[in-house]
Amino acid sequence: MKELKKKISLSIDGKKITARPGMRILSAALSRGIWIPNLCFIPEADLPFGGCRLCWVEVEGEREPVTACSRPVREGMVVRTRGPLAERLRKSAFELLLSRHHLDCRNCRKNKNCGLQEIARRCRYQLKPGRFTRENPGLPADDSHPDFVFNPNHCILCGKCVWVCQAKSAGILDFSRRGLECRVSTFAGEPLGESKCNGCLKCVDICPVGALFRK
Ligand code: FES
Repeated sequence: MKELKKKISLSIDGKKITARPGMRILSAALSRGIWIPNLCFIPEADLPFGGCRLCWVEVEGEREPVTACSRPVREGMVVRTRGPLAERLRKSAFELLLSRHHLDCRNCRKNKNCGLQEIARRCRYQLKPGRFTRENPGLPADDSHPDFVFNPNHCILCGKCVWVCQAKSAGILDFSRRGLECRVSTFAGEPLGESKCNGCLKCVDICPVGALFRK
């Protein structure tokens, strides 16, 4: 017979909640209607990707903020989602994401349905890269596929398309290169229309910004 594991009690922003052992703070919070900014979190994924760095929270008794998508809950934990240290890191992470995202909202298919716009609105951030120099690689969009387009200038490297393609579909998308040169691409860098993409469009559906969109 399966052993029943005791639920864990914790508080987030003063709200007392329970969570399953092993659950991470972000999943526990979202499941109870407590929103923590996030762009790379995939509830079904076994391991957090931890790429967007937007989900910073403060945990009572810990000196440094932690990312809510990676930190498991523990009994009696007291979490603050809007402490000053977490806020500072989150805002810097947001500005860094914007520094490589081509801001062209008016012409973007995801305008008004964009993860970056939502975070800017809810956190009262400006949609500007702030202190960081804008990295605008001006890469060509790949429109070789009959069903969808990939615009790398809008990609924020959240990894969601890579995960869904690898875990649920043809497995042709991956990251290539490193550091500032890092990109999402097909395995050998061939155009999507010449790859083994099966056109499932799961990557389009999961993209939180306007990097992947239907034709
Ligand atoms: S959701 Fe935690 S780092 Fe992206």
